[in-house]
Amino acid sequence: MYARITGTGGYLPEKILTNQDLERMVDTSSEWIIDRTGIKERHVAAKGETTCDLAVIAARRAMEAAQRNPEDIDLIIMATTTPDKIFPSTACLLQHRLDIHGCAAFDVQAVCTGFVYALGIADRFVRTGGARCALVVGAETTSRIIDWTDRGTCVLFGDGAGAIVLEESEEPGILSSHLHADGRYEHLLNVPYGISQGFDKTKNGEAYLYMKGNEVFKMAVKTLGRIVDETLVANNITKSDIDWLVPHQANNRIIEATARKLKMSMDRVVVTVDMHGNTSAASVPLALDAAVRDGRIKRGETLIMEAFGGGFTWGSALVKY
Ligand code: UT7
Repeated sequence: MYARITGTGGYLPEKILTNQDLERMVDTSSEWIIDRTGIKERHVAAKGETTCDLAVIAARRAMEAAQRNPEDIDLIIMATTTPDKIFPSTACLLQHRLDIHGCAAFDVQAVCTGFVYALGIADRFVRTGGARCALVVGAETTSRIIDWTDRGTCVLFGDGAGAIVLEESEEPGILSSHLHADGRYEHLLNVPYGISQGFDKTKNGEAYLYMKGNEVFKMAVKTLGRIVDETLVANNITKSDIDWLVPHQANNRIIEATARKLKMSMDRVVVTVDMHGNTSAASVPLALDAAVRDGRIKRGETLIMEAFGGGFTWGSALVKY
């Protein structure tokens, strides 16, 4: 028994924040942002618009593509670092909004690697008979934890949601998934406040993302190079067997480095970072959805997905679409 992707969906909030908008907010230039990251614009949630609001639309689109109704879904896994509430989980909020009742629903917190983690977990559920039709979502409103006066981070991130329906199948779908973490690197990328430290430390909600960008960059390139090798070896395949790279969209230079490692030309790489920025857990499913909907990714093709993020966490999945 395999788990196969039967539908994809995505949603980006309406409001677009361009590099020119950011030039008016911090000491930066569109030229610098494009040169160092490839990002031209990103979407930002409206006031009051939550992670769950974005996730509902992406999930409905994925269910529609898979031709599945609420009663068909028997597992919901939501990857997010920006939940609507401390509890219930955003997965439970999403379940209710979709009028799904009774199935297991939970959040996964692995920052930018969240969707790859959620996919790996859902795959194991489906292959072992724990679920037949899973909804796997990555959704974020990272704009809420950005310090909009910090030019080192505020130009990088965007909001959005991506979703897939993953179903049991006799045909191969998810061929393997590889999940890793190393908490030693917590100091390089974090939001240094949390519930357990006490609300007083959050300084009225000023809990912002901190990143030592250039160190994260170097680790990301090195680690993603290693994980694509691990994925090829585990499946006993070569670089030329891969049709598409669907990478986490943090920085175009990181994406290009992984493509070079795989000896893939950039026309076989799905890039959305220019228009979405880094949408954290939403970036891989949003990229997948974009390339499925515009007809680039076709049934039967082999994709490698990968991501790297806070933790550090990193992971990959080899997928027969
Ligand atoms: O998804 C989670 C994982 N996250 C990532 O993978 C992100 C990884 N990091 C990166 O993408 C890159 O490190 C950045 C895009 C964040 C930064 O690029 P960089 O080439 O590593 O630049 P840098 O941090 O080494 O900074 C170079 C210069 C500095 O100035 P000085 O010290 O050389 O005078 C920065 O102050 O660029 C300056 N700088 C900026 N200048 C204009 C930093 N941010 C900006 C900015 N506009 N927005």
